Amino acid sequence: MVNKIESATLRNGVRMPMEGFGVFQIPESDCKEAVLNAIRTGYRLIDTATSYKNEEEVGAAIKEAIEEGIVKREELFVTTKAYIQEMGYENTKEAFARSLKKLGLTYLDLYLVHMPLGDYYGSWRAMEELCGAGQIRAIGVCNFDSARLMDLCYNAKIRPMVNQIERHPHYQRLSELEVMKSLGVQPEGWAPFAEGIKGMFTNPVLQKIAAKHGKSVPQVILRWDIEQGVIIIPKSVHRNRMEENLDIWDFALDANDRAEIATLDTGRPSMLDCSKPSEIDRLYDYLNHPILTSLS
Ligand SMILES: NC(=O)c1ccc[n+]([C@@H]2O[C@H](COP(=O)([O-])OP(=O)(O)OC[C@H]3O[C@@H](n4cnc5c(N)ncnc54)[C@H](OP(=O)(O)O)[C@@H]3O)[C@@H](O)[C@H]2O)c1
Repeated sequence: MVNKIESATLRNGVRMPMEGFGVFQIPESDCKEAVLNAIRTGYRLIDTATSYKNEEEVGAAIKEAIEEGIVKREELFVTTKAYIQEMGYENTKEAFARSLKKLGLTYLDLYLVHMPLGDYYGSWRAMEELCGAGQIRAIGVCNFDSARLMDLCYNAKIRPMVNQIERHPHYQRLSELEVMKSLGVQPEGWAPFAEGIKGMFTNPVLQKIAAKHGKSVPQVILRWDIEQGVIIIPKSVHRNRMEENLDIWDFALDANDRAEIATLDTGRPSMLDCSKPSEIDRLYDYLNHPILTSLS
């Protein structure tokens, strides 16, 4: 079962699949099999990060999928991210080389600044150079609010092509999507299901819309994202759910559905709030700072 996944065209002309497979919180032991199954199911975009500590397993799955003839390298779109302690010009150059090696690749499709923290301006200069040298096809950021994103755009030679942000029916961020559109930055939503918290999968509004279309709640959520121009990267270790999450290209929501989903917006993040000092502490502590020793 492979439905045709549509693509977005990034500002530099690179085509990026509108749906991909996220590997956050997939344990190292399960990651290779999960990514192989995702590729077998039809996913072509794989989203990892140094902080997920599974780049080697992602790389092993890609190698096997290519060797088995399931896919060619150029058909895949591989994303990884530099974490806070990898920020700064030199650090990011080294981090990029380390990630590429772990992934077993000769180039990256998309490289992202993971958090809007640390010396990301230095990192951006490094990423611009790597992009200009053809080692990365597209560069972008994650978790940048509109003000930070605009500031980076004012100071960049190459503007971010993608901003990967928390986005789901409980945190819809429509005005931020408008700003991204005006800047030519492609939105990519992480945690499309908010990891299932706060009753996302049993929400009565979403259940009613799903029943109306003969689809599931996850499928309605993913379709809603796509129709708002947001790239999605759902994560599942279960093959049947991988298939379910990919089976969203044969139906459309209507104006009533959109109006009902709009009522679910709380206007607040469910997962990550970079405006909170306690959250900044937590992010810097992640992986028992300093990350560079644990990631090397
Ligand atoms: N840039 C950032 O800061 C950032 C932050 C977080 C995440 N991300 C990226 O975004 C990706 C997706 O976000 P996420 O993994 O946090 O959360 P998510 O995709 O919203 O939710 C994943 C959870 O939903 C379950 N699930 C998936 N499909 C399902 C289905 N059809 N029915 C029922 N349950 C289903 C999964 O369980 P099973 O696995 O057991 O099926 C898992 O518990 C990540 O993997 C990562 O690549 C980026």
